[in-house]
Amino acid sequence: MSQQPSSPIGVFDSGYGGLTVLKELVKILPEYDYLYLGDNARAPYGSRSYETVYKFTLECVRYLFDSGCHLVILACNTASAKALRTIQQQDLLLIDSSRRVLGVIRPSAEAVGALTCTQSVGILGTTGTVKSESYIIEIKKLFPNIQVYQQDCPMWVPLVENGEWESAGADYFVQESIQKLFAQCATIDTVVLACTHYPLLIKKIRQFLPEGVQVLSQGELVAKSLLNYLQRHDEVDEKCSKLGRRDFLTTDNADLFDINAAVFFGEEVKSKQISVVPSSSML
Ligand code: DGL
Repeated sequence: MSQQPSSPIGVFDSGYGGLTVLKELVKILPEYDYLYLGDNARAPYGSRSYETVYKFTLECVRYLFDSGCHLVILACNTASAKALRTIQQQDLLLIDSSRRVLGVIRPSAEAVGALTCTQSVGILGTTGTVKSESYIIEIKKLFPNIQVYQQDCPMWVPLVENGEWESAGADYFVQESIQKLFAQCATIDTVVLACTHYPLLIKKIRQFLPEGVQVLSQGELVAKSLLNYLQRHDEVDEKCSKLGRRDFLTTDNADLFDINAAVFFGEEVKSKQISVVPSSSML
């Protein structure tokens, strides 16, 4: 009998942040194969233009498709905010309309309605995510009465990517962004960590948040939403291979990735360095 080619679920992030999502995916859906791709060589994406985030994200999605993935999760808010719609509505039709790309914003927007009592929700994200207003749009579609306040935290991803989440520098920048968010509205009772890097800063974030404010991080939400999606879409589910494999790719140095990735993923990681840019276009 010929062996079926493996078709892992692709999980993409600009760097390490998506590993906080992958960690929850493997808890809730352990039987699936996963192929993680971190574009560490070009991270962070948060301050980059729409065109650049879209181009980089599409290159990575194509790489994951070429590696056998039928389903790719953009485990990156910045990529979900700036590239998801165009990839879903334009590129998939040209590449292969049976493939699927899903993002992380919709599951988070769906969750806030049941949590806020004051109808005031805060979004902490990268400059790109905040400027895109994707959270405001998605939350308003579902819950028109909720007021959404946003604050960008441009220093948080660099702190996390550089392993500085416990440092005094982290204290300063975390407190500064939280103060700016609550200066916009003091009655916010639910805060969304709208960047998959931020769970690493959770201790500091809780330390500086006013008491009683709920914090929503995305890993578990996205995992539950994917479970629900796969239950509703047999045609996608049956294409995903289920041998419990986890493979990791990075566009930067693999040894460095393995050291940092283990902290985000909570387990030892063995990655391979790849280039997502076809060699002819690097000349
Ligand atoms: N993890 C990405 C996100 O969720 C970080 C973005 C970045 O690279 O700046 O937005």
